[in-house]
Amino acid sequence: METKKNKEPELIADRQALLRTFITPEREEARATLLKYMEQVLFGLHDFLIQHVGITQEKSLMELSVYFQDSNISKNPEKKLADVIKDLIDDIAPHAVNVASPYFIGHMTSAIPFFMVHLKTIVAALNQNVVKLETSKVVSVVEKQVLAKIHKLVYRKPEEFYEEHIQNTYTTLGAFVEGGTSANLTALWVARNIVFAPKGDFLGIESEGLQAAYKAYGVERCVVLVSRRGHYSLRKAGGLLGIGNQNIIPINVDAKHRIDLECLSQTIKDIKKEGKTKIIAVIGIAGTTETGTVDPLEKMAEICSENGIHFHVDAAFGGPVLMSDKYKNLLAGIELADSVAIDGHKQFYMPMSCGMVYFKSPTIMDAIEYHANYVIRPGSVDLGSKTFSGSREANSLILDSALKIMGSNGYALLINHGIELARRFADEINKRTMFQLVTTPMLNILTYRVCPPEYMKDLSSGEPENKRSTNKKLNEINRDVQRIQREAGKSFVSRTLLFEGNNSEDRVVVLRCVIMNPLTDMKIIKEILDEQEAIYKDIVFEQENS
Ligand SMILES: Cc1ncc(COP(=O)(O)O)c(C=O)c1O
Repeated sequence: METKKNKEPELIADRQALLRTFITPEREEARATLLKYMEQVLFGLHDFLIQHVGITQEKSLMELSVYFQDSNISKNPEKKLADVIKDLIDDIAPHAVNVASPYFIGHMTSAIPFFMVHLKTIVAALNQNVVKLETSKVVSVVEKQVLAKIHKLVYRKPEEFYEEHIQNTYTTLGAFVEGGTSANLTALWVARNIVFAPKGDFLGIESEGLQAAYKAYGVERCVVLVSRRGHYSLRKAGGLLGIGNQNIIPINVDAKHRIDLECLSQTIKDIKKEGKTKIIAVIGIAGTTETGTVDPLEKMAEICSENGIHFHVDAAFGGPVLMSDKYKNLLAGIELADSVAIDGHKQFYMPMSCGMVYFKSPTIMDAIEYHANYVIRPGSVDLGSKTFSGSREANSLILDSALKIMGSNGYALLINHGIELARRFADEINKRTMFQLVTTPMLNILTYRVCPPEYMKDLSSGEPENKRSTNKKLNEINRDVQRIQREAGKSFVSRTLLFEGNNSEDRVVVLRCVIMNPLTDMKIIKEILDEQEAIYKDIVFEQENS
């Protein structure tokens, strides 16, 4: 990698150059470079990524960072467009990560259909700002329509409901936000404001803040209850909303990593008995980040309804499973949630970044409504009145177009492939003596670890001390295998640390796979496992015994 300095005469920033730069590629050369790469990006995305992205030998971030030490903005233009594009393709792309590779099965960020790049380009070209009607016009009503489509996918309300609300300027079925983190935050923001709504002289928590709210309601703290597998974004929301992140209370999980319902009920009972704590929300997870587990949503909804608690479902990952007739029952009960978070950039295969939050009640978002004199006036279609972001891009155009191009059956093919391949992957692990399946996939995420037969024997000896020290050794082995495979650059699985059951002392390093790429198949999965076996036998085992 090199930092190319311009060898041509110094470029000047004058009005003539500015107008040229603003309106059209400066020269024929720039135009030719643009066309060359854009043609590849738009019509040969797959080959383009293989050819240009993530193809270099591993260079550490430390080595790369040497090239990025200059904090000065040059007074005059440094480079022409053609040179900048060349630099991006030649110097940056090879050191980026080819998340589109079918061998990249470690994260929820994966390949996207090529047409998403076309749609994103058009959205950028239109540059609509959906915060207000005056900068988006028809896009605002498209957005309301898309919100209704996904709301219907989740809540399945009768037709009359959608006729009433789809373009109603006083009601809101949900909002497009930045991602799952912002979707969860928005849902909890609404839930917090409903719990501490205005009463008597108290103007509500949004106006008067936490201290006045606690005083008005006679409480000392408030909490959110979620399984131990909850995403860390919920703790961020706890901090931002003033609840305190330690009041995002982790509830134990059962052997299948689902929330323990008895423990949840008992915690609610204890909190109610104590009398000084308000429960802002209980959160069910439809696709936990680490294990892809779906909580028992129906039962959780029942518990919340009996206790008058806001029930939020974090379906940032799992939400689009609803597109699959074959597997949507895995999310049964999601329609009972008061709010639901879904990411567009995960299993709707949209480009970064897009999140959404939906609410059962079309008026509940009034609890976070803001107005200003110059925009988002009461009763307008200005969508920014009920989102915490102000200006934002028209992601709804991308999702709407993708839904038209794919249809729910098209998305179902992707979803079914992920779930079914993950199951076959699990079977393959069970067949191999070098591995141990740690979590059986409910959706398309599974975890396992390298666990050679001699270690397996130690684990099943039943001695807790023995087991703990074996796990410690296995943790080292799996850390090494994952790192060496990543650095080799052909395949990628991620790793995480799971507690065995609910005991924080028994931590197990696991290899984690998320199957999203439709080009990933059993042949590739077997190759990935073979490579891990070889890394263990040829490198890790050798190092241990040298
Ligand atoms: C279950 C769950 N919720 C929330 C999030 C946060 O989503 P984002 O990274 O889009 O903010 C994630 C991300 O992986 C997730 O898996």
